[in-house]
Amino acid sequence: MKKAVFLLTTILTTIFFVSCTNKSEEYIDPRGTDYAGSESCVQCHKVQSEMAFHSSHFKATAPAILGNVSGDFDSKNHTFIYDKDTKLVMEKQGDSLYQVLYKNGKEVSKYKFEIVFGTKHAQTSVYWKNNNTYELPVSFYHSINNWATSPGFPADKPYFDRMVVKDCYACHSSNVSSRTVNQSSEDKNFMSMDVEDAINKKTIVYGIDCERCHGPAKKHVDFHLKNPNIKIANSITSFKSLSRQQRLDACALCHAGNDGMKLKSRFDFKPGDNLSEFFRETRSINDTTNFDVHGNQFRLMAQSKCFINSNKMDCITCHNPHENASKNMASYSKICMSCHQGLKHKETTLKTMPEKLLADNCVECHMPKKASNAINFQLSNSKQLSSYILRTHKIGTYPSTKK
Ligand code: HEC
Ligand code: HEC
Ligand code: HEC
Ligand code: HEC
Ligand code: HEC
Ligand code: HEC
Ligand code: HEC
Repeated sequence: MKKAVFLLTTILTTIFFVSCTNKSEEYIDPRGTDYAGSESCVQCHKVQSEMAFHSSHFKATAPAILGNVSGDFDSKNHTFIYDKDTKLVMEKQGDSLYQVLYKNGKEVSKYKFEIVFGTKHAQTSVYWKNNNTYELPVSFYHSINNWATSPGFPADKPYFDRMVVKDCYACHSSNVSSRTVNQSSEDKNFMSMDVEDAINKKTIVYGIDCERCHGPAKKHVDFHLKNPNIKIANSITSFKSLSRQQRLDACALCHAGNDGMKLKSRFDFKPGDNLSEFFRETRSINDTTNFDVHGNQFRLMAQSKCFINSNKMDCITCHNPHENASKNMASYSKICMSCHQGLKHKETTLKTMPEKLLADNCVECHMPKKASNAINFQLSNSKQLSSYILRTHKIGTYPSTKK
């Protein structure tokens, strides 16, 4: 019986995926008929599509199928020990992946990896329970190439009750629909409120896709399919026509932290919209707060003299929006030099690094890597908190680390 259900689901999923990749008229986007889906863009925008499909944006959330999940499931590093009786083991069973809880050597429960969040530095996963998703207690971190506690989770006992709410999806996916339902009263852990959002699994559009940044594009696609000789873009917002603030807002939507008072859902944002209509400003642009390096590139950049005094720096000055951040630091130096021609460092600075080397490494000294205070994690059998390290976007002069 179970097998039959499994087979049926497999067939249905296959049909679903096949129909998704079909470029034909039949594709129905969960966001509605204004949307065409990313697959439809490839035929006319091959360059942007091939880049973007491989980017971290497209992988910001994904179904937790083999190949999408990072980390070790069968050899040495797949066990997290809470205490001498309690351990959590990452296990592969058939085509599915689980975090399996053992007490005194006996399996007590297991939780299936269903959706993964993140790809570049770390990956956390969720399982489904009562139409909602809950974070698994152990995540994978590339910096240590190992499993450790999910951010903020305890290292001395397993915890499975942290709901991953719609807000997470609003920055990590392109669509999630939910409806408000009466929470079953059986759930004793459920505090005060008796209503809660239920996420409709079928409506999830994984990752940050073309139309998440460019807005609904079905009309654009239909127009250009009918008028193949017209080479001027129709029915799509051009970033070139936007003001600097509008261009910044299109990135700041997800890269400016999460402490504003929400007025509208992030999912409703389209390029050209003003972010001030989505969040009540709680911070002035002159704010001197030490913003965290995690998730707040916009506010850190906005504190830099480069940003304030150039009147033109935005995210696209340094990033191709369809590609990941470059690993080639010299390429960023070229961008710095386009505004800082004829720059002279002091003799004392040049003593620490010869001018030729310095010219390729502006970023190492002026945008150093910093530990996040918001995110930290603990390894199995360790009391020590490890921190999450990202490059600061506050361009400035920092005390040198080596003497
Ligand atoms: C049938 C061909 C066709 C399809 C399919 C198509 N486009 Fe376009 N698109 C064009 C043409 C033609 C232009 C104008 C020339 C150019 O910029 O390449 C354009 C331009 C654009 C621009 C630049 C607008 C500007 O003025 O800066 C964006 C953004 C864009 N398309 C997004 C998309 C997205 C997103 C999809 C998929 C949902 C898509 N396009 C599908 C033909 C197409
Ligand atoms: C993270 C947001 C983001 C995503 C995702 C994204 N774009 Fe863009 N795209 C932009 C921005 C911003 C620009 C303007 C770049 C500029 O002006 O230099 C742009 C420009 C374009 C252009 C104009 C030509 C160019 O390269 O500047 C096309 C065409 C385009 N995008 C198509 C796509 C397609 C197709 C996808 C999906 C495969 C996609 N974009 C995904 C943000 C995004
Ligand atoms: C809908 C939310 C959203 C929007 C809009 C968005 N980003 Fe992102 N961005 C993310 C998330 C989430 C990640 C982390 C992806 C990961 O590693 O899993 C990310 C990652 C990145 C990265 C690092 C990718 C890497 O692997 O090096 C860069 C660079 C970036 N974004 C730039 C931009 C720029 C520029 C814009 C505006 C054109 C933009 N983002 C718009 C959510 C967003
Ligand atoms: C305001 C937008 C926003 C919200 C809300 C948000 N994130 Fe993120 N998240 C980001 C951005 C942007 C990055 C990547 C850049 C960074 O770390 O600064 C990121 C990075 C991550 C990463 C690491 C990915 C990587 O490798 O860079 C994970 C895992 C993650 N988020 C999970 C979550 C979960 C789970 C939630 C909800 C509890 C959540 N995020 C809520 C914007 C957001
Ligand atoms: C769009 C132009 C532009 C770009 C690109 C740019 N800067 Fe600047 N930067 C400026 C301007 C303008 C100032 C302010 C100069 C002043 O007021 O004297 C400045 C100031 C600085 C300062 C002095 C900061 C302080 O607090 O005193 C440093 C250091 C600096 N830039 C380094 C860099 C580095 C490194 C890069 C590349 C990662 C870079 N800049 C990219 C325009 C730019
Ligand atoms: C002056 C150049 C510059 C500007 C402007 C800039 N970035 Fe970056 N960004 C970088 C550099 C350099 C890196 C680090 C690449 C690395 O170390 O691999 C980076 C990395 C990132 C990352 C990945 C973080 C990490 O440490 O892996 C994200 C996310 C990001 N940028 C988003 C943005 C957003 C959003 C904006 C606009 C608010 C922006 N950047 C503006 C230069 C810039
Ligand atoms: C070895 C570290 C290091 C590297 C690499 C480096 N800088 Fe600096 N930079 C400094 C220090 C320290 C200062 C302050 C003392 C000085 O002016 O030499 C400074 C000062 C500056 C200033 C401010 C000058 C002023 O008038 O106040 C700018 C602008 C600047 N650097 C840009 C750059 C750019 C662009 C690059 C890459 C071509 C670069 N730096 C590479 C360490 C570095």
